[in-house]
Amino acid sequence: GRTQDLARNIVLIGPMGSGKSTVGSALARRLGRPHVDTDHFFVARHGSIAEYFTTHGEEAFRAEEEKVVAELLDSPRPSVISLGGGSILSPRTRETLSSQLVVMLDLTEQQARQRLGDGSTRPVLGDDPVSSWLRIYAEREALYRECADVVVPPAEGTIDERVDTIVSAL
Ligand code: S3P
Repeated sequence: GRTQDLARNIVLIGPMGSGKSTVGSALARRLGRPHVDTDHFFVARHGSIAEYFTTHGEEAFRAEEEKVVAELLDSPRPSVISLGGGSILSPRTRETLSSQLVVMLDLTEQQARQRLGDGSTRPVLGDDPVSSWLRIYAEREALYRECADVVVPPAEGTIDERVDTIVSAL
């Protein structure tokens, strides 16, 4: 392992549906660290993301998301932090991530189809969730890879197996 990383946050990034929240929560439990989810924090502060988009638009969402992410990445003790899928669009966030241990969770198109449902909680997906997801994936893939210290490839299997893979890659 990378002993110097014991002092750093582990930050999970990746596309919508990649399991950042569920895997992050299980990883945190395994490592005995707090788990922080930036989407949950956003909702606690501003209400539902879908309503925020309707009222204020995506640009305002990104500006508030950037603030939430900056506050949470500045955590008082090493935590596992799950980021909203679009957080890495912010150059300021990417700069902050360069000093943290960043893990990208990847998934296949087929898994995305199974996991996105009707997309109603994720306003960036619009009326055609799967084709929007594919377009957004293509737009962001290079950014995810650029930010990541570790890329966890798509896999079937349980959340605990996913956690095993991450822990052995750290
Ligand atoms: C978004 C992803 C969502 C949420 C918002 C926008 C995106 O988070 O932050 O709906 O642009 O990829 P998840 O990746 O947790 O679904």
